[in-house]
Amino acid sequence: MKNILLFAFMGLIILAGCSGSKPEKTIANLKAGIKGETTASAKYAAFAQKARGEGKDTIAKLFDAASKAESIHANNHRKVLEGLGEKMLDFKPEFEVKTTAENLAAAIEGEGYEVATMYPQFLADAKAEKVEKAERSFNWAFDTEKKHHEFYVKALDALKTNTVNTLPFVYAVCPVCGNTYDNAKVDEKCAFCQTGKDKFIII
Ligand SMILES: [Fe+2]
Ligand SMILES: [Fe+2]
Repeated sequence: MKNILLFAFMGLIILAGCSGSKPEKTIANLKAGIKGETTASAKYAAFAQKARGEGKDTIAKLFDAASKAESIHANNHRKVLEGLGEKMLDFKPEFEVKTTAENLAAAIEGEGYEVATMYPQFLADAKAEKVEKAERSFNWAFDTEKKHHEFYVKALDALKTNTVNTLPFVYAVCPVCGNTYDNAKVDEKCAFCQTGKDKFIII
């Protein structure tokens, strides 16, 4: 009898330990990531429309491609969050649309923050809390944002030197991880997640 009580007591302690071990930082980071990626997706879609209105079709295409990629990142983060038994509350994306030159500068700043600060911190937290699926989702976004940053810097340079017509006009986006390619330079398989190029979304 004494042993049974002891086992029951130990069982209760183990259960209490498990329920108190939620990866709190990663859950908060996933929510911030969903908000950031969803806002970026809506913002870039609006920037694309603005660029098209200004007759800058190559830059519009870049914003369209990045918008698609960010929505894939948001979905990936959301799936991980829901897998942890958590839900994202509704929110309204907030952003400003200015001239295309200013929009590109804002995009460079946003991607720069994600690459230099946000995702490195999210990745460190996910690693420490051992949430592998979050680590994978953050890594896919982190690696994609580095490419977006580079594309935007080139686009702003082209705008300043009146050479926007030399920028790529077709992009390919991996539907699994959001990796974004200048369509003339796609890999046979996505360099981040190995999805075949036949599955890529052509923008
Ligand atoms: Fe991005
Ligand atoms: Fe991919």
